[in-house]
Amino acid sequence: MKRIGVLTSGGDTPGMNACIRSVFKTGTDLGMQVMGVYHGYKGLIEGRVDYITHDMVENKMHKGGTVLRTARSSAFLTEEGMQKAVSVLNAYDIEGLVVIGGDGSFRGAAQLSEKYGVNVIGIPGTIDNDMGYTDFTIGFDTAINNVMNEIYKIRDTMRAHDRVGVIEVMGRLCGDIALWAGVGGAADLILVPERPMPWDEATNILVANKLRGKLTSIVLIAEGAGSAEDFCEYVRAHSDVEIKATVLGYIQRGGNPSAFDRVLAAKLGQRAVELLADGQSGFAVGIKHNDIINVPLLDAVKVNDTFDDKLYDLNTIMAKF
Ligand code: F6P
Repeated sequence: MKRIGVLTSGGDTPGMNACIRSVFKTGTDLGMQVMGVYHGYKGLIEGRVDYITHDMVENKMHKGGTVLRTARSSAFLTEEGMQKAVSVLNAYDIEGLVVIGGDGSFRGAAQLSEKYGVNVIGIPGTIDNDMGYTDFTIGFDTAINNVMNEIYKIRDTMRAHDRVGVIEVMGRLCGDIALWAGVGGAADLILVPERPMPWDEATNILVANKLRGKLTSIVLIAEGAGSAEDFCEYVRAHSDVEIKATVLGYIQRGGNPSAFDRVLAAKLGQRAVELLADGQSGFAVGIKHNDIINVPLLDAVKVNDTFDDKLYDLNTIMAKF
């Protein structure tokens, strides 16, 4: 394979730049030309394609965001959009495409591969960690560290007022960010969609904490389990607990990627390029039990997300005392 392309799609994630760098360098090492597609699938349809240069990737891997930019494109998922994408790839003689993104991006990649015979490899890039075929997605580790660091700041001010702090984090329908950041940040209660807890029960826990002298509790709520503001209103209406909401928002998605995310990005980028060089396509790469793996894209998008119930239960035990 002489020329490959790489794009980033969906929500950006820290580590995407490290992954683009890996695809560029490992591809170059194998004698390939590496082209970048700007603004994800949207840019692919519009023909926003150019060579990746050393300057583009040098001194960028420590930065969040993506030098290739990203977008969410509904037009791409139409027959017309797919056909345009294929014609752009053909016009640029791009023989293989690396897609760095989340499950929506993978579904697009799977279609490109299955219906149009495009050589595609998917690399999991999302802070949500909601792709069950891989233990970790690029960006998740950075996001949970971002959240954990904010928990301590919020705890400082909550403690000064004997308040309960509720912190809403991202993750779409997945509770992994709330769970891992919550365990790392010693949360007293973690509300996630995978372990639905009625809000009266959650309120009782906060009231009980107060009665046993624990005047400050930190609650992590995954966006898929409800909004921090709604939860606070409920607790205020049903108890005398003083409670304040913080929605962390995009602060958790930006910033310098952690070492783990950079290394993961480097390894996954390399495997993606090696597969293409070997004439293999239609795969999603990932990490399972510390091994770099590849599974068919169609299987990857079908695997349900896995939730670490043991870790959740461990936090419940630790929050008791
Ligand atoms: O998928 C990543 C993610 O950050 C989700 O956690 C969140 O729900 C969503 O993207 C936010 O999307 P947008 O950037 O379009 O606001």
